[in-house]
Amino acid sequence: MAEIRVLLLGDIVGAPGLAMFEKHIASLREQYKVDALIVNGENSAQGKGITPRIAKFFMEKGVDIITTGNHIWRRKEIYGYLAENKTLLRPNNYPNTCPGTGVATFLCKGTTVGVINVQGRVFMFDNIDCPFRSAKSAVSYLATKTKVILVDVHAEATSEKAALANYLDGTVSGVVGTHTHVPTSDERIMPNGTAFVTDLGMAGAQDSIIGVQKGAVVNAFTTAMPNRFTVETQGPGVLSGVCITINSVSGKATAIERVHIVDNDFNFDATA
Ligand SMILES: [Fe+2]
Ligand SMILES: [Fe+2]
Repeated sequence: MAEIRVLLLGDIVGAPGLAMFEKHIASLREQYKVDALIVNGENSAQGKGITPRIAKFFMEKGVDIITTGNHIWRRKEIYGYLAENKTLLRPNNYPNTCPGTGVATFLCKGTTVGVINVQGRVFMFDNIDCPFRSAKSAVSYLATKTKVILVDVHAEATSEKAALANYLDGTVSGVVGTHTHVPTSDERIMPNGTAFVTDLGMAGAQDSIIGVQKGAVVNAFTTAMPNRFTVETQGPGVLSGVCITINSVSGKATAIERVHIVDNDFNFDATA
């Protein structure tokens, strides 16, 4: 049976996230026999957005597609790169006047793999198109090219992500959630053959609040005053995601395994 194994990693947060990715990607490739690699890069530039330099770094490390989310617009220098490079996605349900695209394909072991990035609207910026209709129309477009399709649904609400996964069950190979930076343990294959996990988690500093220094976040909640958030660089590193095995003929997922590394020896300052 022809199979494709795709490793999908959650939001890479700042320089520690990039360093954790760089430190562990070769062994992860080997351990999980990875054929294709998709990462969410929306927080890779100091926690907010992504730069062309970081996008090129991911490409040099063998990433096939970079997905993003609500932070994609934070760095203006990425706009031109988005317009010119189909390997970096922004959510598909932004107006088509925005630079870039939310749909891409790449070739893996002779099979075309389609990737869709959409953003949720619950508890988030909601002045964007419906992620369900956007994903459905992207699936219809990709279905003319391939049965192997993966979706990154970048959303806050677990229900919105689960609803999208069920809405697409049987028409795509996998739906993975991103954005919360917290990995969920609900990975499964749904009844019609679509793999699903509510959130992939993140890469970055573990002793943090979703990758950010704890004090400022606690202050934000306790003082209700504006606070400057800084990416945490100290302490153990974390990196998480899933590996999905897909039958490249039928497009159905046959396995989904959670990937979660806690690296107690990770010392970001030593690697900087
Ligand atoms: Fe994020
Ligand atoms: Fe996000």
